[in-house]
Amino acid sequence: MRIDIISVVPDLLASPFSHSILKRANDKGLLQVNVINLREYTTYARAQVDDYQFGGGAGMVMMIEPLVNAIESLQRERIYDEIIYLTPDGKTFDQKTANSLSLKNNLLMICGHYKGIDQRVRDHFITREISIGDYVLSGGELAAAVLTDAIGRLIPGVLNDESSALTDSFQDNLLAPPVYTRPEVFRGWGIPDVLKSGNHKLIEEWRHEQSVQRTTERRPDLLSE
Ligand code: ADE
Repeated sequence: MRIDIISVVPDLLASPFSHSILKRANDKGLLQVNVINLREYTTYARAQVDDYQFGGGAGMVMMIEPLVNAIESLQRERIYDEIIYLTPDGKTFDQKTANSLSLKNNLLMICGHYKGIDQRVRDHFITREISIGDYVLSGGELAAAVLTDAIGRLIPGVLNDESSALTDSFQDNLLAPPVYTRPEVFRGWGIPDVLKSGNHKLIEEWRHEQSVQRTTERRPDLLSE
């Protein structure tokens, strides 16, 4: 998979993809993330990419021309399955969306800044608008990094233990059960006996019960979806 990200602060995205699982995905050739500096696509003086909004009011708007120049120049190289705009008024990102986006080949993400991007870009180029939660970030970059991480780890072959993504929280609309590792006793705090029983069926049943209990207590909304 390839994920291209258009940003006015590409440096913000230098680190998130250079470590751990996403780095491994890149090293294995399974995920290529490419950050594009929007300022390279403006024809305005001093690399201008934003301007005052029509109608007046506080806050700048990202201009249509640099964005369209960047998008169309990238589209000449490849066909995008989705062009995603990260915005607080988009649809809230969830595991189902991550699952479906992980099946795509080419994604283009656009990070907004200031008051957002000119509406005409949204009307004519964007295929999906996604928010990562009901709060406002200072730009879409961290949201793009969140999407890339959640999507990237689902690409087959990226995680070492192939089954591990399937038992994550939210797959099956259930939160993950508690987990334990060595030592078996720490400060007198032990672990549930069933996990030492060696009986895989019992362990699976216990994990499922724990998942249901956690979900009921913490996120009952998931059970009714
Ligand atoms: N840009 C600013 N806030 C955002 C949010 N909550 N989700 C996605 N993009 C954003």
